[in-house]
Amino acid sequence: MKSYSGRTSLVTGASSGIGKAIAADLAGRGSNLILVARSVDRLEEIAAQLRSAHGVKVEVVALDLAHEGAAQRLSQDVARRGLDVDLLVNNAGFGKWGHFLDDDLATYAEMLALNTRAVVELCHVFLPSMARRGDCGVMNIGSTGSFVPIPWSAVYGATKAFVLSLSEALYYEYKDRGVQITVLCPGNTQSNFARVANAGAVKGDDQSDSPEWVAKIGLDALLAGKCTVIPGLANQQVAILPRLLSRQRAVGIVGETWKKRLKARGVQL
Ligand SMILES: NC(=O)c1ccc[n+]([C@@H]2O[C@H](COP(=O)([O-])OP(=O)(O)OC[C@H]3O[C@@H](n4cnc5c(N)ncnc54)[C@H](OP(=O)(O)O)[C@@H]3O)[C@@H](O)[C@H]2O)c1
Repeated sequence: MKSYSGRTSLVTGASSGIGKAIAADLAGRGSNLILVARSVDRLEEIAAQLRSAHGVKVEVVALDLAHEGAAQRLSQDVARRGLDVDLLVNNAGFGKWGHFLDDDLATYAEMLALNTRAVVELCHVFLPSMARRGDCGVMNIGSTGSFVPIPWSAVYGATKAFVLSLSEALYYEYKDRGVQITVLCPGNTQSNFARVANAGAVKGDDQSDSPEWVAKIGLDALLAGKCTVIPGLANQQVAILPRLLSRQRAVGIVGETWKKRLKARGVQL
């Protein structure tokens, strides 16, 4: 993909955190937007700000992407508005912190539906038109947890390993077909993520990256044709652990560090 200017970008989870920052960065680069999340009021507010600051067109779609058939409904909605998606950003997602059994199966089903099934389905519904037209892109949001399993966030980590694997395979399939696939794998980033992950985690962010910085790195990487991008040296070091050590040792290091951090943030383990 050569440029975002004058193109149409669909960003899921655009109502806060990394998705909101990606939407703002894209608007600053002249991209028209389709913002998707459940909180319609927040999306409308962001849309109004971006229209007046950057003069771009911004559409708002209120949708729960964890619901069965959501991707198909979204693609029909986009078609009804007479739009083609040039850049798809699969950002909406959530995690939970705590023991595996602390959360019920309904929560895990919702997490799997949003973090994995919706990503597959959105790629599946939007890729045909992208490949036909060429010069398009998909950015999926993974995590440093895509590279190393995360004890006390086991299902979330597994969903992000899925996103990395899917994205790297699709990158290879589509690299000569006019669709650039990039997976952005952030570490700890300032957003609502911690609040959603554990309502008890009331203590402040520890050395979190800014979502604006993460967004810029991801969007630059996609234009540069990169497949996988991890913002910052510290996060890159986490990702490389399983290649330097045994996988079990890497899980042990991540597990102990993570346990200390969660306890410091008030999570009961
Ligand atoms: N923050 C981090 O430390 C971090 C690190 C690595 C990766 N990530 C990944 O970054 C992505 C963005 O997370 P964030 O940190 O920016 O968290 P966030 O501030 O909580 O944002 C999550 C976004 O997803 C939307 N969302 C949640 N459930 C949804 C649903 N069922 N249907 C549609 N939209 C939904 C939320 O909007 P509504 O509530 O309005 O629906 C919100 O806009 C996620 O994929 C996350 O896994 C985050």
